[in-house]
This record gives sequence, C-alpha cells and structure tokens, in this order.
Amino acid sequence: MSDTSKSVPQEQLPSQELHPPPMPVINLGHLSLDDPTARSRVVNDIAKSCRDLGYFQVINHGISQSVMDGAVEAASEFFKLPSEIKEEYASDDIRQPVRYDTSSKDGISMSRAFLKHYAHPLCDWLQYWPQQPPIYRQAVSSLKREYMEKYAVEVRMVALKLMEAILEGLGIGKEYMHEKFEEGLQLLSVNCYPKVSQSDTTIGLAAHSDYGLLTILLTSCPGLEVVDRSSNSWKVVQQLPHALHVHIGDHMEILSNGQIKTVVHRAVLNPQEARISIASIHGFALHEKVSSAKELVDEENPQKYKESSFNDFLEHLTANMDNMQRNFLESL
Ligand code: SIN
Ligand code: FE2
Repeated sequence: MSDTSKSVPQEQLPSQELHPPPMPVINLGHLSLDDPTARSRVVNDIAKSCRDLGYFQVINHGISQSVMDGAVEAASEFFKLPSEIKEEYASDDIRQPVRYDTSSKDGISMSRAFLKHYAHPLCDWLQYWPQQPPIYRQAVSSLKREYMEKYAVEVRMVALKLMEAILEGLGIGKEYMHEKFEEGLQLLSVNCYPKVSQSDTTIGLAAHSDYGLLTILLTSCPGLEVVDRSSNSWKVVQQLPHALHVHIGDHMEILSNGQIKTVVHRAVLNPQEARISIASIHGFALHEKVSSAKELVDEENPQKYKESSFNDFLEHLTANMDNMQRNFLESL
C-alpha cells in the first residue's frame, strides 16, 4: 500500500455498498471574511463535520479551475510517458523523495500506478520531481510555476486555513500551527487508475486510512468511497463541481485525543474512464512526534494514544513490508 496509510484488516470492513454519504459542503471563502460571526459559523461547521464524519468538501477554496485542471493534466501526461522514463523514478524504498510504482504488495489485487513526492518545503524537494512532462514543474526556479507546482503551493494554503479552523474548533492552542504545522510535511500522492469493464472487480486502492493530519483530494472523476460510520457501509463520494474533498488522518485522531476520528476509504475503478487523483497529505515534520493535545487530556479524558511521528510510521512500514494488514494507530 502507500507510505502514508495503514490498510485495514478485511474482516473489519463493511460488505454492503453504496448510496451517496451525507456530504457537508464548507464555503471556505467565509473564513476570510471580516465578519467574526460568519467565521465562527464556518469553524463550527468544520468541527461538526470532523466529529460526526471525518470528511467534508470545500468550495470557494481559492484555487482556480485552470490550476486544478492543469494539475490533473500534468499527472495524466506523466502516466502516459513511456515506461522507461517513469521507471527512472521506480523504487521499493519508501524513504525515497520521489517514488513511482505500479504494483500492489499486500496480497490484495489492486490496479493503480502512483507517483509520490514531497512538496514542502518546495525548495528542498522540487529538484526530485519529474522533469517531464514540461507542464509538471518549472525546470529552473522562477516565479512562473507550472501546474503541479502551482497546485502544490495553493493546496497547502487551503490546508493551512483548514488546520487553523480545526484547531480553533477543538479549542487547542495556535502553537501547533506556528511551531509544527507551518514547518510541517506535505506529500503529494498522485494516482492513476485504469478504466475497467463493468464486470471487473479489481479494486483501485484497498481500504486504508491516511497517516497524516489531513488529506485534501482532487480527482478527475468518481471512484473514492468512504466508510459511513453510522451505517458501517461503503459510500460513493460524489464529485461536487470545483470542490476539493478533505479527510481526517490518523495523526489528527491522536492530536484530538479521539475527539475526531480518522476515515477509512478506498478507491474503486471507474468503468467509464481512467481516473486521476491527487492526494495532498499534510502533517508535522517527519521527525516530529504527534501526541494528544494537553488541553484535551484530563482525568475524565485520559490520553488514549501513543505518540508517534511520520518517521516512526515509515520505520514500522519498512519492518512490516510483508504484513501490511496492520493497525498502526496504537492505543495506550
Ligand atoms: C488515496 O487514498 O490516496 C487516494 C484515494 C483516491 O484515489 O480516491
Ligand atoms: Fe488515502
């Protein structure tokens, strides 16, 4: 599976299918209004979506349709390159700064090609990004950014706004923002799923939760499914025009001491068309341990999880490559 996610044991998965889930739509434009009432309404809506569901979509997020389309096109053009060019980025080592792969290693039949690379701080990581196709990134540093690069920078701004609102909703200190999140990690997981026939039951990406604090997902067409907690069933996520899908990761569950829960999701293959998805994963820096916020721990609410860093997770993953059906979110 991926270096940002833990897979979920099959016996724990719901078998029943479909119907759209409740999907809160948050107008992020209202967060920047000079109107404290509008802001606190949005903060409350985000807090409620995080607590009840663990996912929501955002509109008015400030990223133009042309940048979103350009990022999808850049991804799609990358996956159309001849194999020998893509293979230059192939590696089994999950610590590589850029990694292309097509195989599944956890015994589940999955059909996906992916390219993963870090995106923040951009000046450290850009040198590792693919140089082809030309619309992926600027070959030399300049203010004119190509589409994947532009998208990475702009989606991080969305993550910063969301994180600030989530912390406000949880009533926990801004020091997390300034000291840990702003300096934190951004990883782009760029996926390409083939078009399949109606009868093909191969999965695109097996059930898992993401490891960071939050993930922002841009997709070219439907294919994402989430587990709806109230019915314990898979729900197809509908694409809202110009929206981005947001879901909560394991580290947010730890930071919130379980007030907010990570979301189990998967990708199914689309019989109508090949699908591109770009998951932007945000968290603290690789070495930075995440533990439950002190404001959320008291006698009535003892600390529920062991602290851990992204690095701990990568180590755990490297040591357990043959047994990926793990659960890394460790309770105390
Ligand atoms: C992911 O979970 O990283 C991708 C999900 C998707 O492709 O919809
Ligand atoms: Fe994921």
